[in-house]
Amino acid sequence: MIILGIETSCDETAAALIKDGKFILSNIVASSSQIHAEVGGIIPEEAARQQLLSIMPVVNQALFLGLDWKPNSQPPPIDAIAVTAGGPGLIGSMLVGVEVAKTLASIWEVPIIPVTHLLAHVYANWLTGKPYPEFPAVVLTVAGGHTDLFLMKGHGKFKWLGGTRDDAAGEAFDKAARLLDLPYPGGPSIQGAAEGGNSKKIPLPRPLINSKDFDFSFSGLKTAIQREIKNNKSINKKDFAASVQEAVADVLTSKTLKAADKYNVKSVLIAGGVAANLRLRELINEKADMPVFIPPVKLCTDNATFIGSHAYFNYHPMSWSEIVAIPDAFEAIKVYGNHKN
Ligand code: KG4
Ligand code: ZN
Repeated sequence: MIILGIETSCDETAAALIKDGKFILSNIVASSSQIHAEVGGIIPEEAARQQLLSIMPVVNQALFLGLDWKPNSQPPPIDAIAVTAGGPGLIGSMLVGVEVAKTLASIWEVPIIPVTHLLAHVYANWLTGKPYPEFPAVVLTVAGGHTDLFLMKGHGKFKWLGGTRDDAAGEAFDKAARLLDLPYPGGPSIQGAAEGGNSKKIPLPRPLINSKDFDFSFSGLKTAIQREIKNNKSINKKDFAASVQEAVADVLTSKTLKAADKYNVKSVLIAGGVAANLRLRELINEKADMPVFIPPVKLCTDNATFIGSHAYFNYHPMSWSEIVAIPDAFEAIKVYGNHKN
């Protein structure tokens, strides 16, 4: 089965062709992140405009590279279209992908599957070949808008264990970068600046690291950084960046492995943009005593491969007239299912 995945929830416009949920035939991503970098954060209206400009070239390129299909010919030989219709996402951006997917599905007479972005990220772990993750698994989805822990008992069977009470981990990186005058997006620039820095130099808190629940809190990090900047006459950005990165990686690793122990899982899966962080990858691999799955960096940040894979493993087509863009992830999970406790 070949599924065309479409993803436009934020500032990436992406399309991918996925065969049998596990094989990437093509993966095209356009990003407007450089435009937003100029102001240090996303401008939703601008992101939506850029989605409109990029969506058809990106879809056409994915179909051409994966299937040698050219526009204005017969419908492409695909079995279904999967689209991000559930968040987290920006409404204007998401609407572009959803409406394009609905239009193409009705013209090409193929089923359409709405996908919730938050849960789809984890399917990047099924796109890298054997061994595949075994259930039950603990899943950490860690991105710009979300930091959540789930117990995954099978495909589509997610039980929410906990999540951030305030800022997401990616947001913490983005805010820290702004305070340190490092470019947007903050995650990659903090990681870059952290190279050669001393992560023990700046004392930063590890909020909720010892709490019994599986919640996170990252907003205190911003205040602590502000305080440390004030207290330090000369700021060594490398040490600050390394210390921020270590604090975030430490809390994420500790809470995830605590959940993995409690539920006696067979695998730990990490997904989302922050999973690209090299220190987090290193730390969790070092500390875990069960298999840890983290997608290659390219598949961690937003793209459409995991949208196509999620749709294959959770194949629930809907009538295009029932599909709307739902920016809130948990609202979307209620409407589009795949959250069976
Ligand atoms: O999954 P994603 O591309 O979009 C959302 O769904 O939010 O994640 C974006 C987030 C941003 O906050 C970005 O700073 C963070 O992922 N990120 C990283 C790294 N690469 C991206 N955070 C830490 N280290 C990285 N290497
Ligand atoms: Zn994402």
